[in-house]
Amino acid sequence: MRQATPTYELLRAAFADADGDLPRYRVLYQAIRESILGHRLPPGTRLPSTRELARELGLSRNTVLSTFEGLLAEGFISARAGSGTYVAQAAAAPRTRGARHAPINGERRPLAGNAPQLSQRGLRLAAFAGGSRFEIQPLSGGEVDFTLFPIKQWQRLQSRQLRLARPELLDYASDGGYLPLRHAIADYVRVSRAVRVEVDQVIVTAGTQHSLDLCAQLLADVGDRVWVEDPCYWGARCIFDSCDLKIDPIAVDADGMDPAAAPAGSRPKLIYLTPSNQYPTGVPMSLARRRAVLELAARERAWILEDDYDSELRYSGRPLASLQGLDTEQRVVYLGTFSKVLYPGIKIGYLVVPAPLVQPFRSALYDLQRPGQLPVQGALAEFMERGYFATHIRRIRQAYAETRALLIEALQPALGGPAHITSQSAGLHLVIRLPDGFDDQQLAQTAAARGVRVSALSRYFIGAPAAWGLVVGYGYASAEKIARSGRVLAQVLRAALPR
Ligand SMILES: Cc1ncc(COP(=O)(O)O)c(C=O)c1O
Repeated sequence: MRQATPTYELLRAAFADADGDLPRYRVLYQAIRESILGHRLPPGTRLPSTRELARELGLSRNTVLSTFEGLLAEGFISARAGSGTYVAQAAAAPRTRGARHAPINGERRPLAGNAPQLSQRGLRLAAFAGGSRFEIQPLSGGEVDFTLFPIKQWQRLQSRQLRLARPELLDYASDGGYLPLRHAIADYVRVSRAVRVEVDQVIVTAGTQHSLDLCAQLLADVGDRVWVEDPCYWGARCIFDSCDLKIDPIAVDADGMDPAAAPAGSRPKLIYLTPSNQYPTGVPMSLARRRAVLELAARERAWILEDDYDSELRYSGRPLASLQGLDTEQRVVYLGTFSKVLYPGIKIGYLVVPAPLVQPFRSALYDLQRPGQLPVQGALAEFMERGYFATHIRRIRQAYAETRALLIEALQPALGGPAHITSQSAGLHLVIRLPDGFDDQQLAQTAAARGVRVSALSRYFIGAPAAWGLVVGYGYASAEKIARSGRVLAQVLRAALPR
Protein backbone atom coordinates (compact mmCIF):
# COMPACT_ATOMS: atom_id res chain seq x y z
CA MET A 1 0.00 0.00 0.00
CA ARG A 2 1.29 3.38 -0.97
CA GLN A 3 1.47 6.01 1.75
CA ALA A 4 -0.86 8.99 1.50
CA THR A 5 0.86 11.67 -0.54
CA PRO A 6 0.85 14.47 2.09
CA THR A 7 3.67 12.78 3.98
CA TYR A 8 5.85 12.67 0.90
CA GLU A 9 4.94 16.21 -0.05
CA LEU A 10 5.87 17.41 3.40
CA LEU A 11 9.16 15.63 3.36
CA ARG A 12 10.02 16.62 -0.20
CA ALA A 13 9.31 20.24 0.70
CA ALA A 14 11.56 19.91 3.72
CA PHE A 15 14.35 18.57 1.53
CA ALA A 16 13.92 21.42 -0.92
CA ASP A 17 14.30 23.93 1.95
CA ALA A 18 17.15 22.12 3.68
CA ASP A 19 20.57 23.54 4.22
CA GLY A 20 22.72 21.88 1.53
CA ASP A 21 25.57 21.31 3.99
CA LEU A 22 23.53 19.17 6.37
CA PRO A 23 23.90 15.40 6.08
CA ARG A 24 20.88 13.76 4.44
CA TYR A 25 19.86 11.73 7.48
CA ARG A 26 19.85 14.95 9.53
CA VAL A 27 17.54 16.67 7.03
CA LEU A 28 15.14 13.74 7.09
CA TYR A 29 15.26 13.55 10.88
CA GLN A 30 14.52 17.24 11.28
CA ALA A 31 11.78 17.19 8.66
CA ILE A 32 9.92 14.33 10.37
CA ARG A 33 10.50 15.69 13.87
CA GLU A 34 9.31 19.20 12.98
CA SER A 35 6.30 17.81 11.16
CA ILE A 36 5.33 15.78 14.23
CA LEU A 37 5.86 18.64 16.65
CA GLY A 38 3.99 21.00 14.39
CA HIS A 39 1.00 18.61 14.11
CA ARG A 40 1.46 18.23 10.38
CA LEU A 41 2.03 14.53 11.04
CA PRO A 42 -0.49 13.87 13.82
CA PRO A 43 -0.17 10.98 16.31
CA GLY A 44 -1.19 7.68 14.77
CA THR A 45 -0.13 8.62 11.23
CA ARG A 46 1.43 5.67 9.49
CA LEU A 47 4.82 6.47 8.05
CA PRO A 48 5.94 5.01 4.73
CA SER A 49 8.19 2.00 4.92
CA THR A 50 11.90 2.71 4.91
CA ARG A 51 12.23 1.16 1.50
CA GLU A 52 9.46 3.32 -0.04
CA LEU A 53 10.72 6.45 1.62
CA ALA A 54 14.25 5.86 0.39
CA ARG A 55 13.01 5.36 -3.15
CA GLU A 56 10.64 8.37 -3.16
CA LEU A 57 13.20 10.74 -1.70
CA GLY A 58 16.17 9.37 -3.57
CA LEU A 59 18.03 8.37 -0.40
CA SER A 60 19.89 5.24 0.55
CA ARG A 61 17.89 2.82 2.66
CA ASN A 62 20.56 3.00 5.38
CA THR A 63 20.04 6.75 5.69
CA VAL A 64 16.33 6.23 6.26
CA LEU A 65 16.93 3.34 8.65
CA SER A 66 19.30 5.31 10.84
CA THR A 67 16.88 8.27 10.87
CA PHE A 68 14.05 6.01 12.00
CA GLU A 69 16.24 4.46 14.68
CA GLY A 70 16.94 7.90 16.10
CA LEU A 71 13.28 8.90 16.05
CA LEU A 72 12.31 5.60 17.65
CA ALA A 73 14.88 5.97 20.42
CA GLU A 74 13.60 9.47 21.21
CA GLY A 75 9.99 8.33 21.30
CA PHE A 76 8.73 10.29 18.27
CA ILE A 77 7.65 7.20 16.41
CA SER A 78 6.74 3.68 17.39
CA ALA A 79 6.99 0.46 15.43
CA ARG A 80 4.19 -2.11 15.50
CA ALA A 81 5.37 -5.58 14.57
CA GLY A 82 4.11 -6.54 11.13
CA SER A 83 2.07 -3.39 10.57
CA GLY A 84 4.57 -0.56 10.11
CA THR A 85 5.83 2.59 11.79
CA TYR A 86 3.54 5.25 13.29
CA VAL A 87 3.82 8.68 14.83
CA ALA A 88 3.77 7.99 18.58
CA GLN A 89 0.71 9.10 20.53
CA ALA A 90 2.70 11.07 23.07
CA ALA A 91 5.04 12.67 20.58
CA ALA A 92 3.24 15.82 19.47
CA ALA A 93 3.36 18.97 21.52
CA PRO A 94 -0.01 20.13 22.85
CA ARG A 95 -1.44 22.84 20.66
CA THR A 96 -0.54 26.15 22.19
CA ARG A 97 -1.31 29.42 20.53
CA GLY A 98 1.87 30.99 19.31
CA ALA A 99 3.95 27.86 19.88
CA ARG A 100 6.41 27.22 17.10
CA HIS A 101 7.61 23.93 18.42
CA ALA A 102 8.13 22.39 21.79
CA PRO A 103 10.49 19.83 23.26
CA ILE A 104 9.46 16.32 24.06
CA ASN A 105 10.40 16.34 27.68
CA GLY A 106 10.16 18.99 30.31
CA GLU A 107 8.01 22.08 30.31
CA ARG A 108 5.94 22.81 27.25
CA ARG A 109 5.71 26.51 27.04
CA PRO A 110 5.30 28.73 24.02
CA LEU A 111 8.63 30.03 22.87
CA ALA A 112 9.05 33.59 21.77
CA GLY A 113 10.98 33.74 18.52
CA ASN A 114 14.30 31.97 18.99
CA ALA A 115 14.31 32.30 22.79
CA PRO A 116 15.98 29.35 24.49
CA GLN A 117 13.68 27.24 26.59
CA LEU A 118 14.31 28.28 30.18
CA SER A 119 12.65 27.59 33.49
CA GLN A 120 10.89 30.46 35.24
CA ARG A 121 14.01 30.76 37.39
CA GLY A 122 16.18 30.70 34.28
CA LEU A 123 14.14 33.46 32.71
CA ARG A 124 14.51 35.59 35.85
CA LEU A 125 18.24 34.96 35.94
CA ALA A 126 18.65 35.78 32.26
CA ALA A 127 16.71 39.01 32.69
CA PHE A 128 18.72 39.96 35.78
CA ALA A 129 22.10 40.05 34.03
CA GLY A 130 23.59 41.46 37.22
CA GLY A 131 27.24 41.34 36.28
CA SER A 132 26.79 43.63 33.35
CA ARG A 133 24.34 45.98 35.02
CA PHE A 134 25.52 46.25 38.61
CA GLU A 135 29.16 45.22 38.93
CA ILE A 136 31.22 48.14 40.17
CA GLN A 137 34.07 48.52 37.72
CA PRO A 138 37.21 50.57 38.10
CA LEU A 139 36.37 54.10 37.12
CA SER A 140 38.73 54.14 34.20
CA GLY A 141 37.79 51.79 31.41
CA GLY A 142 40.29 49.53 29.70
CA GLU A 143 42.65 47.15 31.38
CA VAL A 144 42.36 46.22 34.96
CA ASP A 145 45.59 46.63 36.92
CA PHE A 146 46.66 43.70 39.09
CA THR A 147 50.26 44.77 39.50
CA LEU A 148 49.85 44.87 43.28
CA PHE A 149 49.36 41.12 43.41
CA PRO A 150 52.65 39.30 44.15
CA ILE A 151 52.37 37.02 41.18
CA LYS A 152 55.93 35.63 41.41
CA GLN A 153 55.50 34.54 45.03
CA TRP A 154 52.17 33.03 44.17
CA GLN A 155 53.57 31.16 41.19
CA ARG A 156 56.36 29.72 43.32
CA LEU A 157 53.94 28.49 45.95
CA GLN A 158 51.61 26.99 43.39
CA SER A 159 54.45 25.22 41.57
CA ARG A 160 55.76 23.93 44.88
CA GLN A 161 52.38 22.38 45.64
CA LEU A 162 52.33 20.66 42.27
CA ARG A 163 55.98 19.57 42.57
CA LEU A 164 55.27 17.93 45.90
CA ALA A 165 52.88 15.76 43.90
CA ARG A 166 51.06 14.57 46.95
CA PRO A 167 48.37 12.29 45.56
CA GLU A 168 45.87 13.29 48.24
CA LEU A 169 45.90 16.84 46.88
CA LEU A 170 44.58 15.56 43.57
CA ASP A 171 41.50 14.14 45.22
CA TYR A 172 38.24 15.96 45.98
CA ALA A 173 38.39 18.26 48.98
CA SER A 174 36.48 16.63 51.80
CA ASP A 175 35.89 17.70 55.40
CA GLY A 176 35.21 21.31 54.44
CA GLY A 177 38.53 22.01 52.70
CA TYR A 178 42.27 21.65 53.14
CA LEU A 179 43.05 21.52 56.86
CA PRO A 180 46.12 23.82 56.88
CA LEU A 181 44.09 26.44 55.01
CA ARG A 182 41.23 26.14 57.48
CA HIS A 183 43.75 26.62 60.30
CA ALA A 184 45.22 29.68 58.61
CA ILE A 185 41.76 31.18 58.03
CA ALA A 186 40.65 30.49 61.60
CA ASP A 187 43.79 32.17 62.99
CA TYR A 188 43.33 35.12 60.67
CA VAL A 189 39.65 35.89 61.33
CA ARG A 190 40.03 35.27 65.05
CA VAL A 191 42.70 37.93 65.31
CA SER A 192 41.75 40.43 62.64
CA ARG A 193 37.95 40.19 62.77
CA ALA A 194 37.30 39.04 66.34
CA VAL A 195 35.40 36.05 64.99
CA ARG A 196 34.76 33.30 67.54
CA VAL A 197 35.97 30.24 65.75
CA GLU A 198 37.39 26.76 66.08
CA VAL A 199 39.06 25.30 63.02
CA ASP A 200 36.24 22.77 62.50
CA GLN A 201 33.79 25.59 61.93
CA VAL A 202 35.64 26.84 58.86
CA ILE A 203 34.30 25.55 55.53
CA VAL A 204 36.25 26.48 52.41
CA THR A 205 34.01 27.36 49.45
CA ALA A 206 34.38 28.71 45.94
CA GLY A 207 33.71 32.28 47.08
CA THR A 208 30.86 34.22 48.59
CA GLN A 209 28.33 33.40 45.88
CA HIS A 210 28.92 29.76 46.54
CA SER A 211 28.74 30.26 50.32
CA LEU A 212 25.43 32.10 49.96
CA ASP A 213 24.04 29.39 47.77
CA LEU A 214 24.93 26.74 50.35
CA CYS A 215 23.37 28.81 53.13
CA ALA A 216 20.18 29.39 51.17
CA GLN A 217 19.89 25.71 50.33
CA LEU A 218 20.62 24.41 53.80
CA LEU A 219 18.96 27.01 55.97
CA ALA A 220 15.81 28.05 54.11
CA ASP A 221 12.97 26.40 52.23
CA VAL A 222 11.21 27.56 49.08
CA GLY A 223 8.99 30.51 49.96
CA ASP A 224 10.80 31.38 53.21
CA ARG A 225 11.48 35.04 53.79
CA VAL A 226 14.92 36.55 53.54
CA TRP A 227 15.59 40.09 54.66
CA VAL A 228 18.09 41.89 52.52
CA GLU A 229 19.45 45.37 52.79
CA ASP A 230 17.88 47.87 50.39
CA PRO A 231 19.96 48.88 48.44
CA CYS A 232 21.55 45.47 48.24
CA TYR A 233 24.45 43.45 46.88
CA TRP A 234 23.02 42.16 43.61
CA GLY A 235 24.90 38.85 43.84
CA ALA A 236 23.14 37.92 47.08
CA ARG A 237 19.77 38.97 45.76
CA CYS A 238 20.29 36.81 42.71
CA ILE A 239 21.14 33.72 44.78
CA PHE A 240 18.10 34.14 47.05
CA ASP A 241 15.83 34.64 44.10
CA SER A 242 17.22 31.57 42.37
CA CYS A 243 16.49 29.53 45.50
CA ASP A 244 12.87 30.73 45.36
CA LEU A 245 13.00 32.64 48.62
CA LYS A 246 10.76 35.64 49.25
CA ILE A 247 12.90 38.73 49.40
CA ASP A 248 11.93 41.49 51.84
CA PRO A 249 13.99 44.60 51.10
CA ILE A 250 14.71 46.42 54.37
CA ALA A 251 15.68 50.10 54.32
CA VAL A 252 19.25 51.12 55.04
CA ASP A 253 20.08 54.47 56.63
CA ALA A 254 23.25 55.98 58.04
CA ASP A 255 23.32 53.22 60.71
CA GLY A 256 22.91 50.33 58.27
CA MET A 257 19.86 48.10 57.88
CA ASP A 258 16.97 49.17 60.09
CA PRO A 259 15.04 46.10 61.32
CA ALA A 260 12.26 48.42 62.49
CA ALA A 261 11.59 49.26 58.83
CA ALA A 262 10.64 45.65 58.02
CA PRO A 263 7.10 45.01 56.79
CA ALA A 264 4.70 44.26 59.66
CA GLY A 265 4.46 40.54 60.32
CA SER A 266 7.42 39.56 58.15
CA ARG A 267 9.27 36.72 59.89
CA PRO A 268 12.64 36.15 58.26
CA LYS A 269 14.39 32.82 58.02
CA LEU A 270 17.56 34.51 56.76
CA ILE A 271 18.89 38.02 57.27
CA TYR A 272 21.63 38.98 54.82
CA LEU A 273 23.91 41.79 56.00
CA THR A 274 27.12 43.57 55.03
CA PRO A 275 27.61 45.20 58.45
CA SER A 276 31.26 46.25 58.14
CA ASN A 277 30.74 48.18 54.93
CA GLN A 278 27.19 48.17 53.61
CA TYR A 279 27.14 47.36 49.91
CA PRO A 280 26.82 49.65 48.03
CA THR A 281 26.23 52.66 50.33
CA GLY A 282 29.48 52.17 52.27
CA VAL A 283 28.06 52.80 55.74
CA PRO A 284 29.02 50.66 58.73
CA MET A 285 26.24 49.20 60.88
CA SER A 286 26.01 50.87 64.26
CA LEU A 287 26.42 48.90 67.46
CA ALA A 288 22.80 49.56 68.46
CA ARG A 289 21.56 48.13 65.15
CA ARG A 290 23.91 45.14 65.47
CA ARG A 291 22.44 44.36 68.85
CA ALA A 292 18.88 44.84 67.60
CA VAL A 293 19.39 42.49 64.69
CA LEU A 294 21.09 39.84 66.85
CA GLU A 295 18.20 39.96 69.33
CA LEU A 296 15.69 39.68 66.55
CA ALA A 297 17.49 36.70 65.01
CA ALA A 298 17.58 34.91 68.35
CA ARG A 299 13.89 35.62 68.95
CA GLU A 300 12.80 34.53 65.47
CA ARG A 301 15.31 31.70 65.24
CA ALA A 302 16.51 33.28 62.01
CA TRP A 303 20.03 32.96 60.61
CA ILE A 304 22.12 36.04 59.99
CA LEU A 305 24.43 35.79 56.99
CA GLU A 306 27.26 38.23 57.64
CA ASP A 307 29.03 39.03 54.37
CA ASP A 308 32.38 40.52 55.43
CA TYR A 309 33.59 40.91 51.87
CA ASP A 310 36.13 43.74 52.14
CA SER A 311 36.66 44.37 55.83
CA GLU A 312 40.46 44.29 55.41
CA LEU A 313 40.27 47.49 53.41
CA ARG A 314 39.73 50.28 55.92
CA TYR A 315 41.82 53.38 55.51
CA SER A 316 41.10 55.29 58.68
CA GLY A 317 39.99 54.49 62.18
CA ARG A 318 40.02 51.08 63.76
CA PRO A 319 38.33 48.26 61.89
CA LEU A 320 34.95 47.35 63.28
CA ALA A 321 34.85 43.88 64.76
CA SER A 322 32.60 41.33 63.14
CA LEU A 323 28.95 40.93 64.05
CA GLN A 324 29.63 37.23 64.57
CA GLY A 325 31.95 38.09 67.46
CA LEU A 326 29.03 39.72 69.30
CA ASP A 327 26.69 36.78 68.84
CA THR A 328 26.08 34.68 71.93
CA GLU A 329 23.22 32.64 70.49
CA GLN A 330 24.99 31.01 67.53
CA ARG A 331 22.71 32.64 64.97
CA VAL A 332 25.41 34.12 62.71
CA VAL A 333 27.05 32.48 59.72
CA TYR A 334 30.16 34.47 58.79
CA LEU A 335 31.19 34.71 55.11
CA GLY A 336 34.65 35.74 53.97
CA THR A 337 36.30 35.86 50.56
CA PHE A 338 39.73 36.26 48.99
CA SER A 339 38.23 37.91 45.90
CA LYS A 340 38.89 41.47 47.00
CA VAL A 341 42.25 41.13 48.68
CA LEU A 342 43.91 38.69 46.28
CA TYR A 343 42.12 38.63 42.93
CA PRO A 344 38.49 37.97 41.98
CA GLY A 345 39.17 34.94 39.82
CA ILE A 346 40.78 32.99 42.67
CA LYS A 347 37.28 31.96 43.71
CA ILE A 348 38.15 30.89 47.23
CA GLY A 349 35.99 31.97 50.10
CA TYR A 350 34.97 30.52 53.42
CA LEU A 351 32.17 30.16 55.88
CA VAL A 352 32.43 30.12 59.65
CA VAL A 353 29.33 28.26 60.73
CA PRO A 354 27.96 27.69 64.23
CA ALA A 355 29.06 24.32 65.62
CA PRO A 356 25.69 22.54 65.08
CA LEU A 357 25.88 23.37 61.36
CA VAL A 358 29.36 21.97 60.75
CA GLN A 359 28.39 18.44 59.72
CA PRO A 360 25.39 19.40 57.56
CA PHE A 361 27.49 22.01 55.72
CA ARG A 362 30.45 19.72 55.21
CA SER A 363 28.40 16.88 53.85
CA ALA A 364 26.17 19.08 51.68
CA LEU A 365 29.23 20.80 50.25
CA TYR A 366 30.64 17.45 49.29
CA ASP A 367 27.39 15.97 48.01
CA LEU A 368 26.43 19.01 45.97
CA GLN A 369 29.77 20.18 44.63
CA ARG A 370 32.56 17.63 44.97
CA PRO A 371 34.89 20.52 45.70
CA GLY A 372 38.54 20.31 44.73
CA GLN A 373 41.45 22.58 43.82
CA LEU A 374 43.47 21.39 46.82
CA PRO A 375 46.82 22.50 45.37
CA VAL A 376 45.49 26.09 45.17
CA GLN A 377 44.16 25.77 48.71
CA GLY A 378 47.61 24.48 49.70
CA ALA A 379 49.34 27.44 48.06
CA LEU A 380 47.00 29.85 49.82
CA ALA A 381 47.61 28.15 53.17
CA GLU A 382 51.35 28.66 52.72
CA PHE A 383 50.82 32.22 51.50
CA MET A 384 49.08 32.93 54.78
CA GLU A 385 51.37 30.89 57.06
CA ARG A 386 54.53 32.57 55.71
CA GLY A 387 53.12 36.02 56.40
CA TYR A 388 52.84 36.99 52.72
CA PHE A 389 49.12 37.54 53.07
CA ALA A 390 49.53 40.02 55.93
CA THR A 391 52.25 41.87 53.99
CA HIS A 392 50.08 41.96 50.87
CA ILE A 393 47.12 43.35 52.79
CA ARG A 394 49.28 46.10 54.26
CA ARG A 395 50.51 46.99 50.76
CA ILE A 396 47.12 47.11 49.11
CA ARG A 397 45.60 48.97 52.03
CA GLN A 398 48.17 51.69 51.60
CA ALA A 399 47.89 51.70 47.81
CA TYR A 400 44.09 51.88 47.80
CA ALA A 401 44.11 54.57 50.47
CA GLU A 402 46.34 56.65 48.18
CA THR A 403 44.21 55.96 45.12
CA ARG A 404 41.11 56.93 47.04
CA ALA A 405 42.71 60.15 48.23
CA LEU A 406 43.80 61.02 44.67
CA LEU A 407 40.31 60.34 43.40
CA ILE A 408 38.73 62.56 46.03
CA GLU A 409 41.22 65.29 45.24
CA ALA A 410 40.33 65.05 41.54
CA LEU A 411 36.63 65.15 42.38
CA GLN A 412 36.98 68.10 44.74
CA PRO A 413 35.82 70.80 42.30
CA ALA A 414 32.46 69.04 42.04
CA LEU A 415 32.00 68.23 45.73
CA GLY A 416 30.32 70.32 48.39
CA GLY A 417 26.89 71.75 47.81
CA PRO A 418 24.51 69.17 46.37
CA ALA A 419 27.14 66.44 45.82
CA HIS A 420 28.99 64.87 48.72
CA ILE A 421 30.72 61.63 49.63
CA THR A 422 28.71 59.60 52.13
CA SER A 423 30.62 56.31 52.19
CA GLN A 424 33.21 55.62 54.87
CA SER A 425 36.90 55.49 54.09
CA ALA A 426 36.98 51.80 53.20
CA GLY A 427 36.59 49.25 50.44
CA LEU A 428 37.08 49.62 46.72
CA HIS A 429 34.45 52.18 45.85
CA LEU A 430 33.00 55.41 47.14
CA VAL A 431 29.52 56.86 46.94
CA ILE A 432 28.73 60.40 45.88
CA ARG A 433 25.24 61.30 47.05
CA LEU A 434 23.19 63.61 44.84
CA PRO A 435 19.96 65.47 45.52
CA ASP A 436 16.86 63.32 45.95
CA GLY A 437 15.30 62.32 42.66
CA PHE A 438 18.35 63.34 40.62
CA ASP A 439 18.59 61.38 37.36
CA ASP A 440 21.71 59.44 38.33
CA GLN A 441 21.24 56.91 35.53
CA GLN A 442 21.42 59.64 32.92
CA LEU A 443 24.47 61.03 34.67
CA ALA A 444 26.16 57.60 34.60
CA GLN A 445 25.46 57.44 30.87
CA THR A 446 26.92 60.88 30.29
CA ALA A 447 30.06 59.81 32.17
CA ALA A 448 30.24 56.59 30.14
CA ALA A 449 30.13 58.60 26.93
CA ARG A 450 33.32 60.29 28.17
CA GLY A 451 34.99 56.95 28.95
CA VAL A 452 34.31 56.95 32.71
CA ARG A 453 32.48 54.00 34.25
CA VAL A 454 30.27 54.68 37.25
CA SER A 455 27.04 53.11 38.49
CA ALA A 456 23.84 54.86 39.48
CA LEU A 457 23.07 54.34 43.18
CA SER A 458 19.31 54.29 42.55
CA ARG A 459 19.65 51.11 40.50
CA TYR A 460 20.74 49.05 43.51
CA PHE A 461 17.38 49.44 45.22
CA ILE A 462 14.96 46.57 45.10
CA GLY A 463 12.01 48.70 46.10
CA ALA A 464 11.52 52.34 45.12
CA PRO A 465 14.84 54.21 45.19
CA ALA A 466 15.42 56.17 48.39
CA ALA A 467 18.84 57.61 47.56
CA TRP A 468 20.43 58.89 44.38
CA GLY A 469 24.07 59.24 43.52
CA LEU A 470 27.06 57.64 41.90
CA VAL A 471 28.93 54.51 42.93
CA VAL A 472 32.52 55.04 41.89
CA GLY A 473 35.00 52.14 41.85
CA TYR A 474 38.72 52.71 42.31
CA GLY A 475 40.05 49.18 42.82
CA TYR A 476 42.28 47.20 40.47
CA ALA A 477 43.39 50.24 38.47
CA SER A 478 46.44 52.46 38.58
CA ALA A 479 46.31 55.64 40.67
CA GLU A 480 47.13 57.83 37.64
CA LYS A 481 44.30 56.40 35.59
CA ILE A 482 41.86 56.80 38.46
CA ALA A 483 42.93 60.40 39.06
CA ARG A 484 42.60 61.20 35.34
CA SER A 485 39.13 59.68 35.17
CA GLY A 486 38.24 61.42 38.42
CA ARG A 487 38.93 64.78 36.81
CA VAL A 488 36.63 63.93 33.89
CA LEU A 489 33.94 62.81 36.32
CA ALA A 490 34.25 66.10 38.21
CA GLN A 491 33.61 67.98 34.95
CA VAL A 492 30.58 65.81 34.17
CA LEU A 493 29.19 66.39 37.67
CA ARG A 494 29.75 70.13 37.60
CA ALA A 495 28.02 70.41 34.24
CA ALA A 496 25.00 68.43 35.49
CA LEU A 497 24.52 69.87 38.96
CA PRO A 498 22.53 72.99 39.76
CA ARG A 499 24.76 75.86 40.84
C1 LIG B 1 29.02 42.50 48.89
C2 LIG B 1 29.91 41.50 48.22
N1 LIG B 1 30.05 40.30 48.76
C3 LIG B 1 30.88 39.38 48.21
C4 LIG B 1 31.60 39.64 47.08
C5 LIG B 1 32.60 38.64 46.56
O1 LIG B 1 32.01 37.56 46.07
P1 LIG B 1 32.86 36.29 45.57
O2 LIG B 1 33.64 35.76 46.73
O3 LIG B 1 31.78 35.36 45.13
O4 LIG B 1 33.76 36.76 44.47
C6 LIG B 1 31.45 40.86 46.45
C7 LIG B 1 32.15 41.13 45.17
O5 LIG B 1 31.90 42.06 44.48
C8 LIG B 1 30.61 41.82 47.04
O6 LIG B 1 30.49 43.03 46.49
